Amino acid sequence: MKAKNAPDHNLKPESQMMSYGYDPNLASHSVKPPLYLTSTFSFTSAEHGKAYAEVINGLRKQRPDEDFSNTYIYSRDTNPNLEIFERRLAIWENAEAGAAFESGMAAIAFTFLGFLNPGDILVHSEPTYGGTDYLIKRILVRFGIRPVGVRLRDGKAGLDKVLNDPTIGPKVGMIYLESPCNPSNLMADIGHAVAHAKRLEKDGKRPLVVIDNTFLGPVFQQPLKHGADLSLYSATKYIGGHSDVIAGAALGSAEVIGQLKLMRAMLGGIPAPHTCWLLTRSLETLKLRMNAQVAGAQKVAAFLANHPKVDYVNYLGHLDPASEQGQIYAKQCSAPGAMISVYLKGGEAESFRFLNNLKLLHMAVSLGGNESLAEHPASMTHIEVDLEDRIEGDITDALVRLSIGIEDPDDLIADIEQALLHV
Ligand SMILES: Cc1ncc(COP(=O)(O)O)c(C=O)c1O
Repeated sequence: MKAKNAPDHNLKPESQMMSYGYDPNLASHSVKPPLYLTSTFSFTSAEHGKAYAEVINGLRKQRPDEDFSNTYIYSRDTNPNLEIFERRLAIWENAEAGAAFESGMAAIAFTFLGFLNPGDILVHSEPTYGGTDYLIKRILVRFGIRPVGVRLRDGKAGLDKVLNDPTIGPKVGMIYLESPCNPSNLMADIGHAVAHAKRLEKDGKRPLVVIDNTFLGPVFQQPLKHGADLSLYSATKYIGGHSDVIAGAALGSAEVIGQLKLMRAMLGGIPAPHTCWLLTRSLETLKLRMNAQVAGAQKVAAFLANHPKVDYVNYLGHLDPASEQGQIYAKQCSAPGAMISVYLKGGEAESFRFLNNLKLLHMAVSLGGNESLAEHPASMTHIEVDLEDRIEGDITDALVRLSIGIEDPDDLIADIEQALLHV
């Protein structure tokens, strides 16, 4: 099912989401890709099978005269549904290659395991999604990897302080930034991190810069354009977009993604064909959905910002253009997204009263789906984060995180307004 053609740079990504990477001639002219429910694939000859196995296992490079455009071996390595999704996703960031994973956490975990070694320092933004925080601080440390957190609220100076430290800089194996971060919506300057990584290059090796692009990507932020090595996704969120799949993805150069794919095959983190089929379906409406979600979020955020029960709202659309965050936004982002961090006046009791009284918005973790969701990070998505780090990361009891879907924004505002009456 692999299309031999390259992406058409004269066409917008959204125009290629219904066709690129799939050849209907190979599947009874079915307009939509079929679902390939097979664990294994037959070869046309033993020689062809051997050549393909050599290449995908990294034993040698593919020769120009070799054609593996419709060759597969085993669905833990790859599968037509997986490849169609990966190729289409890559178009959004103009990436050489993409890799899909069983979950966002699998994409992150394989990136750490694939590119970090015992003794390395992992410089990471603070806060991060609770699962990522746990993986970094409680699991990676068992493998001799030392995490060093940089608070996003300290801006570029925070990154400078850590990366210019002679006891840290030379040992950094990776700079991992979640931007905007979950749950407080702060951003990191990607280009600034890339400049540090280049400065730290020694003997042809430098730290990889990896960005968790779940909140805005791939439509409103493309980290690869700013020099990042990997753009990671919880594809469960906007890419999936319907809250009906768990998946992850990575975009980057063919070389970096090739290494990740080898890790994925060996550790067994490949998503099922049906998951990839759903994700491919979702990519067709990705831009439409994200645009509608931003339009709704802008209205909801404006309403919240002026509400007497609200202390303040962290929404990318409300940044002061003169502030460092405002400048990062102008440089990196093309729209403010649909995530709103609302700090209510009060604490847990007020947040819970608000959440308990919502009727149209679902009280649920996760984000990026076409339905609006509201949750309390301190007691839900970030409960496993140490209290001290939660305070440092502005994950207070007064914070409620909203993910705006595609409902009519006035209906959402009416629901939020009546729930706030109970606060
Ligand atoms: C920013 C971010 N990264 C990664 C993840 C993990 O993704 P998944 O739940 O698909 O494993 C999440 C989940 O909420 C997230 O918000």
